[in-house]
Amino acid sequence: MAVMILKRVLMAMLLSLVATRVNSEPTQDKQALLAFLSQISHANRIQWNQSHSACTWVGVVCDPTNSSVFYLRLPGAGLVGQIPRNTLSRLSQLRVLSLHSNRLSGPIPSDFSQLTLLRNVYLQDNQLSGDFPSSLVQLSRIIRLDISSNNFTGSIPFSLNNLTHLTGLFLQNNQFTGRIPSIAQPSLADFNVSNNRLNGSIPTAMARFPATAFANNLQLCGDPLAPCNPFFPSPAPSPTLPPPPVIVTRRRSRRLSTAAIVAISVVGGILLLLLLLALIFLLLRRNRRRQTTKTQKPPPAITTARALGEAAGTSSSKDDVTGGSAEGAERNKLIFFQGGGYSFDLEDLLRASAEVLGKGTVGTSYKAVLEEGTTVVVKRLKDVSVTKKEFEQQMEVLGNIKHENVLPLRAFYYSKDEKLLVSDYMPAGSLSALLHGSRGSGRTPLDWESRLRIAVSAARGLVHLHVSRKIVHGNIKSSNILLRQDNLLDACVSDYGLNPLFSSSNPPNHRIMGYRAPEVVETRKVTFKSDIYSFGVLVLELLTGKAPNQASLGEEGIDLPRWVQSVVREEWTAEVFDVELMRYHNVEEEMVQLLQIGMACVANVPDQRPEMQHVLRMIEDMNRGDTDEGLRQSSDDALRGGSDSQTPPTDSRKASPAGLTP
Ligand SMILES: *[C@@H]1O[C@H](CO)[C@@H](O)[C@H](O)[C@H]1NC(C)=O
Ligand SMILES: *[C@@H]1O[C@H](CO)[C@@H](O)[C@H](O)[C@H]1NC(C)=O
Ligand SMILES: *[C@@H]1O[C@H](CO)[C@@H](O)[C@H](O)[C@H]1NC(C)=O
Ligand SMILES: *[C@@H]1O[C@H](CO)[C@@H](O)[C@H](O)[C@H]1NC(C)=O
Ligand SMILES: *[C@@H]1O[C@H](CO)[C@@H](O)[C@H](O)[C@H]1NC(C)=O
Ligand SMILES: *[C@@H]1O[C@H](CO)[C@@H](O)[C@H](O)[C@H]1NC(C)=O
Repeated sequence: MAVMILKRVLMAMLLSLVATRVNSEPTQDKQALLAFLSQISHANRIQWNQSHSACTWVGVVCDPTNSSVFYLRLPGAGLVGQIPRNTLSRLSQLRVLSLHSNRLSGPIPSDFSQLTLLRNVYLQDNQLSGDFPSSLVQLSRIIRLDISSNNFTGSIPFSLNNLTHLTGLFLQNNQFTGRIPSIAQPSLADFNVSNNRLNGSIPTAMARFPATAFANNLQLCGDPLAPCNPFFPSPAPSPTLPPPPVIVTRRRSRRLSTAAIVAISVVGGILLLLLLLALIFLLLRRNRRRQTTKTQKPPPAITTARALGEAAGTSSSKDDVTGGSAEGAERNKLIFFQGGGYSFDLEDLLRASAEVLGKGTVGTSYKAVLEEGTTVVVKRLKDVSVTKKEFEQQMEVLGNIKHENVLPLRAFYYSKDEKLLVSDYMPAGSLSALLHGSRGSGRTPLDWESRLRIAVSAARGLVHLHVSRKIVHGNIKSSNILLRQDNLLDACVSDYGLNPLFSSSNPPNHRIMGYRAPEVVETRKVTFKSDIYSFGVLVLELLTGKAPNQASLGEEGIDLPRWVQSVVREEWTAEVFDVELMRYHNVEEEMVQLLQIGMACVANVPDQRPEMQHVLRMIEDMNRGDTDEGLRQSSDDALRGGSDSQTPPTDSRKASPAGLTP
């Protein structure tokens, strides 16, 4: 072995001696460099004089014998345009290529694959585009690869694993998509993929890099960011969960499928064993890291999700729910109710991709997209205090409710650590999002007709709960009024009847601000009458466009009902209404009528509030101007084809002479 190396060194010395004698400059490389410079626009100071040796040129460094170009460094040299083909690729001995901070564009030429000795590649800060340069992936000696701050797209190739000497990989500030491949070189010390459009889970092998290396992507999850599985977050030590290493192997085998199979077939069982050991080691490390990061600083993914939530009204952190917790959960099955037409099991659910829809007082809701394409909403209840039997009994009651204005419960899951509710996903979103989402630019105002219909349909759902089912909703608020996709005017109520699941000493509704009836503050009990109060607040919200649980009322500490009362008392009634409603003429009378109904509902004394069926009757009987189309014909064609916030309001109002003049 040593002899071989010695021979090679001697050989190289001999060859270079010969080369020095023959010519003291790299003739071929010189031609290649000149060809490069002549085909690309560049700054004036880069003047390569043909009559001098190329080794004296700006940015060029040769080997000690001046027989070939080793380094080409032209950072910030005003290079503009595509890297010409068949130029730099002829620098067969090139070790370092630094062309960063220029305005190079287009793809990296495929003939770069000939630069087999290249070790350091600095192409950051350009406008290079196209897929990940596959020519670079073949250069197995690369140590540092920086193509950050460009415009690369497509996925990050798994074949980066071929670069076995890689110590630094900088891909940040591009437009890479898809998942991060598991790049497992132990040599890799610096890694950054922040500011791309990557999603999915972070491979375990990459979890050792800091969170900032992954920041600002579409939806990355897993260590060092937030855990992927929102239903079974890994920090919670749970006796029903299988030991962590099992999860990891399952995940890996699924993710790396073909590549992993090839690698495994080549190296065989030894590698597998090593892999397992390494994984266990990494996992231990990971767990230790998590504990420290958790206490020191919040994971950035959560902050990002929170920021998104503030912007859009909902939090949207899409996580990969890949998980292997099903073994432990097998005996606790997902229980379906009849009529949903769903067929999936808990494992499918855990494998689904999930997105946070909202964090409520009873738990967090996720939109889960199953692998076969079905979309459902999974609500993860927190602080449930009842026994399994009591839980199942209440689910039985709720699961049998069938009404077009009540969101059906489709399935539930109960285990010691997790309580999940599954219901239909309503893509059109909630009243809250419709009323308060993206105020200002690009917003389609919610017209009066739509608001009235939403009030009626929500009231119908509540009447069904109160009268036919004797169930207190307990959590009426605009984010629990969901709109139907096929008919935006038709709403249904969700999140009903959950209060019995929680301890009466600390009921979740106790924390609901804005919609809570005054007596609930003391009694901590929701009743039919407290539902009426909350519905009244909802009506006022529809009229004023103000969110009752936000400090949007000017004066501090004043709630929506009291604010409305004070304004109305001073006879400024018109000031109460949402400015968006001011564009519609001839509806003031209806607005005032609905206002009176809402005010009756928010009476301080519970007994003074009307019953739900009377509230519905009053709204249905509202004097609809000179329209004889009442609100009673809920399912007639006029309503079915009714307004959809996307279509021009004039179309949707054709049944009503009280037309719109925006
Ligand atoms: C190139 O070098 C030669 C010899 O040193 C010199 O005469 C000539 O002016 C140089 N050309 C340019 C463009 O600088
Ligand atoms: C190589 O080129 C450099 C710069 O022109 C010069 O200083 C050096 O002496 C040359 N070395 C040999 C071995 O020719
Ligand atoms: C990576 O290495 C493997 C095995 O050495 C080879 O088959 C494959 O073509 C290489 N991939 C690339 C992109 O060079
Ligand atoms: C990056 O690519 C996108 C689409 O390919 C293009 O719209 C954008 O202008 C590019 N940005 C730069 C800085 O070249
Ligand atoms: C990642 O993004 C791709 C394309 O945007 C999408 O098809 C895929 O479902 C996403 N995966 C996850 C886990 O979000
Ligand atoms: C990754 O790159 C981003 C953007 O350039 C930077 O803010 C962050 O600090 C980097 N993180 C690491 C670990 O290098």
